Amino acid sequence: MPVIPLDDHHWALTTPASTYVIGVDLDPDTGEAAPRQTYWGPRLSAEAARQVTALPKRHVSSFSTPAEIEELLPVDGGKRWGSPSLQVTFGDTRSVELRFAGSRRHDEGGGAERLDVLLADAHHPFEVVLSLRVRDDTDVIERWTTVRAGAEAVVTRLDSGNWFVPDAPAYRYSGVFGAWAEETQLQRGLLPVGELVFTSRQGITSHTANPWVMIDAGAATEEHGEVWGVALAWSGSWRLTTTQRPEGGACVSGGFGHDGLRWTLAPGEELVTPPALGLYSDGGFGGASRAWHAYARGHVLPTPAEERPVLYNSWEATTFAVTEAQQLDLAKTAASLGVELFVIDDGWFGRRDDDTTSLGDWFPHRERFPDGLRGMLDGIRDLGMLVGLWVEPEGLSKESELYRAHPDWALHMEHRRRDEKRGQLVLNFARDDVREWAIGWLDGLVTDLRLDYLKWDMNRPFTQAGWPERGGDQDRVWIDHTRGVYEVMRTLRERHPGLRIESCSGGGGRVDLGILRHTDEVWPSDNTDARDRQTVQHGFSQLYPAGAMSAWVTDSPNPTTRREMPLRYRFHVAMAGVLGVGGNLTEWSASELETAAELIAQYKRVRATVQHGAQYRLAGTPGQERSAVQYVLDDQVVVLVYNPLGNAKRGPRTLRLTGLDPEALYELESDGSHWHGATLMGAGIRPAAWEPIGADHRSELVVLTKLCPGR
Ligand code: DGJ
Repeated sequence: MPVIPLDDHHWALTTPASTYVIGVDLDPDTGEAAPRQTYWGPRLSAEAARQVTALPKRHVSSFSTPAEIEELLPVDGGKRWGSPSLQVTFGDTRSVELRFAGSRRHDEGGGAERLDVLLADAHHPFEVVLSLRVRDDTDVIERWTTVRAGAEAVVTRLDSGNWFVPDAPAYRYSGVFGAWAEETQLQRGLLPVGELVFTSRQGITSHTANPWVMIDAGAATEEHGEVWGVALAWSGSWRLTTTQRPEGGACVSGGFGHDGLRWTLAPGEELVTPPALGLYSDGGFGGASRAWHAYARGHVLPTPAEERPVLYNSWEATTFAVTEAQQLDLAKTAASLGVELFVIDDGWFGRRDDDTTSLGDWFPHRERFPDGLRGMLDGIRDLGMLVGLWVEPEGLSKESELYRAHPDWALHMEHRRRDEKRGQLVLNFARDDVREWAIGWLDGLVTDLRLDYLKWDMNRPFTQAGWPERGGDQDRVWIDHTRGVYEVMRTLRERHPGLRIESCSGGGGRVDLGILRHTDEVWPSDNTDARDRQTVQHGFSQLYPAGAMSAWVTDSPNPTTRREMPLRYRFHVAMAGVLGVGGNLTEWSASELETAAELIAQYKRVRATVQHGAQYRLAGTPGQERSAVQYVLDDQVVVLVYNPLGNAKRGPRTLRLTGLDPEALYELESDGSHWHGATLMGAGIRPAAWEPIGADHRSELVVLTKLCPGR
């Protein structure tokens, strides 16, 4: 039973390896209810959890109230001065005072149980429901909040939940930050006293920060130590506020929207947040990542059990200049290499010769495809490949038939400019008519062209994010646009169960556990330089699984960085995710094509393990020194080993594997030799790519097979 009632207002939520104890504090003088977290850590028995609730409360002085950092949803109201998780204005009064209104437990089936804690404002007709879901196969706890108004109320902050991290002398935070073409750079640092805000105010998840944070007490390593993580499943603007009080204690409150956003609830209306997810792990950062990956595969991704096909994408080869002859040429070569899915990128529609025009005009480019796309796509299909197209449904060019017909469909504000970014505006997906239009043409496109795959791009942040017809309630677009995107994707998938979708936003601008509920993979960065990509992939892997990470092999020198790199290195880096090819194959030599075909065939033999297995980041800073990443699934062990600076004398020569069965024997595929798991983990292997005398950018793929124990 994952939710254990300890009394009528305390509960222990149990996961396979953790316990989360909460209760509703009732102030005996005022009657105010404050739902509070009293424990989050290693799994406790019900008896031990009950004891936790009897622990004396924190000392509260007149000038500070560290107690509020333990609250599940600290409100703006009463004796609180921290960053609120819920802020509401009723008429002229900006303050919330809550009363406890009971609780409900729901057996949701499939090993999931939900607890709803019901609260209501002491005076105004305003209900708050804190929902918590625990499952019996993951340590991730899902939390979200619902508010309901009986009379008009203006919500200016509504987080999914506040998570308290147990007391420690000091804390570290880990997160990923970056920029376009430099996404998901892992940053780990001392958590400062005060409030540390990670956020996106862009209307998309953003390249600059990603909606998760992990906290440890400073001692966790890759494979050891306690880590507490919070991630938000949301693809619009968001905010995670981590607070460390000077008196001790830290918490993370996370939710959608951002400061300044107003949501006016009409009488009878409710607002539901996206889920914020919390994970406790005592397996270090690696253990935490594997738990997040398993959660994403088990409870987020729509098609986690499938093996993702090897893809070819034409963007870097042809950019906007898409023609039938050149795509078919590329397709023939791609098919001969073993590519399984051919995706035609930007440039096939409207009058799209560059990025200044045609977003919204989703009909085939009349000059280049006077007879439509069907002939070209059939030609690709005849080569034995699946077929995909690039689309940017939220994009709108001023220079388009759609904009001329519906200028009001763009996000805009009265008496304000309509600023373009990358030559385009944003279509308002909060509008019913826009979503109907989007579903209409996307459904038609997928049906008529029998598409297997869409690459759904989104190439700019919001500006002038208004919707004048909504009057004073225009801020809704910040939330309802994202919900609209989800709805269109969900509808398309329902109508086309075979359709697979890739999320892209100018590279990795929309990578999060919200979009992964509706898409099968994400494009993490427009930077395809294998060295840079290793850093991006390292950061990506902290939360997201390799089976959702698109990774292409492109040309050398790399079109963005001009760095030259051997084909094998480029392949071995891309083989750490969902392998794709994105180079100009018409310029690859016969021997390069032969190597590519050999490596694609190798990838197909290990991809189930890479895409669905347990991932271990073994050694070194990826892209900067000798490093390796390992995947284990059933009896197969796959290790990708990298040495970017071949001649470096310093650094390890042996590579200790991890996560193996110490008692079992493993066969090394390259020479058939047998090794005990204990030897591989204790002493390690000696990768040729790590020998110090040699060229830069050496890499290798090591495959081992587990034999019966003791054989
Ligand atoms: C940005 C994407 O990240 C690229 O891969 C490519 O699809 C371009 N947009 C096309 O405009």
